[in-house]
Amino acid sequence: MTIESTYVERNPESARLYARASNVLPSGVTHDSRFMRPFPLYASHAAGAHKWDVDGHELVDYVMGHGALLLGHNYPSVTEAAQAQLVKGTHYGASQEKEIEWAEAVVRIVPSAEVVRFTSSGTEATLMALRLARTYTGKPGVIKFDRHFHGWHDYVVANSKYSAGAPAGVPQATLDSVSVLDLDMDQVRQAVATRGDIGAIIIESAGASSALLPVPRGFLQALSAFCRSEGIVFIMDEVVTGFRWAPGGVQEIEGVTPDLTTLAKILAGGFPGGAVAGRREVMEHLRFPEPGVKAAKVGHPGTFNANPLSAAAGTVCLNEIADGTHQRRATELAAQMRAGMNGVLCELGIPGFIYGEASEFKVLVAGTQVPEAQDYDPRDLPWKLLADGMPGERSRLLQLAMANHGSHLFGAAGMTSSVHTEADIARTVEGWRSSLQDLRAEGQLD
Ligand SMILES: Cc1ncc(COP(=O)(O)O)c(C=O)c1O
Repeated sequence: MTIESTYVERNPESARLYARASNVLPSGVTHDSRFMRPFPLYASHAAGAHKWDVDGHELVDYVMGHGALLLGHNYPSVTEAAQAQLVKGTHYGASQEKEIEWAEAVVRIVPSAEVVRFTSSGTEATLMALRLARTYTGKPGVIKFDRHFHGWHDYVVANSKYSAGAPAGVPQATLDSVSVLDLDMDQVRQAVATRGDIGAIIIESAGASSALLPVPRGFLQALSAFCRSEGIVFIMDEVVTGFRWAPGGVQEIEGVTPDLTTLAKILAGGFPGGAVAGRREVMEHLRFPEPGVKAAKVGHPGTFNANPLSAAAGTVCLNEIADGTHQRRATELAAQMRAGMNGVLCELGIPGFIYGEASEFKVLVAGTQVPEAQDYDPRDLPWKLLADGMPGERSRLLQLAMANHGSHLFGAAGMTSSVHTEADIARTVEGWRSSLQDLRAEGQLD
């Protein structure tokens, strides 16, 4: 049996659902990252750090709601808050106290947040942040960084992981307004001087694709200081890192104060939601001007902004994670995972690295170097190796093999929650060993 034939044989119900889905959903999926050949797994339910697929397998889950679930699935206090809200109404079409509590929690926890505006997703948050920056500075140009992912609206898809090169369907004028650069201050200075129209710089706080390609030491501080000196709005995208790296995100760890921060995922406790938070002076452009005062107002409707369900769950979640205990636990477990997986690579003599920051781990089975230690600061690993990544077929088969052995990865990566256990990690490390052996047996590691 091959890895793929085992996967197909184990998952007949997922295969059946995928065939049905493909009639009504393009490529059978609702998020590009869930697309997988020969077919993705279909989940039936989840609890804590585990989920079950429709063929009855219990999987240790490292997708964790695309990073939204620092507390795992169905965390009791969050679930109770959502249930209590559900019966009181899910949309009042009116302001409500819960959105104030939610905003107060963000202001308390995120160091640079003075005021907050809620959106329905991270994509909407980065869209709003850029529009606020253009309004505040009067300059239309934007700098983003190569492969940094900020959602899927027109201004951020150039050179992101979902659309290398010219992204389909985006007007050239929009693409021309965005410069995509390396994480290199000389490039930034040059682009700002040459273009003369840069109003905003946006960065994924821990690096491209949530720290797949880490940010060099000192770069955030240099970028922040440069933006301040040039009057450019500095936007830290903390959609993944916010509330996960530390309660106050990367900005808390690095001591950097952006003008605007974009948030989503953990923000809403596992429900849809996003936010822009930041400096009052920039955020003021969302305010209605006083009568008789002429001021540029950024319009912002959105049917589900701060909907009661997300606000209720999000507030409880943020209060729960505010003291850093959950982040520390999830981070400790991810470190155990990286060490265990690197240990297996050492033992089997397979070149590659398992690396990552905070509660994440990235799987890179490539290159020529067998790891000698069990954990690495990704900033010390060869940049080119990380940037080239793994051969696509190897990555695909590893994901299938890991599922065959009881763990669901998020692509070639994963995130821990605070409710994973040492036993979960041990089970996954054993599954990792078996997966590598399966890959080797298929001649995929040569
Ligand atoms: C750093 C970053 N920014 C923005 C987004 C977009 O958020 P959403 O999927 O909620 O639109 C994502 C999504 O993964 C992200 O990782």
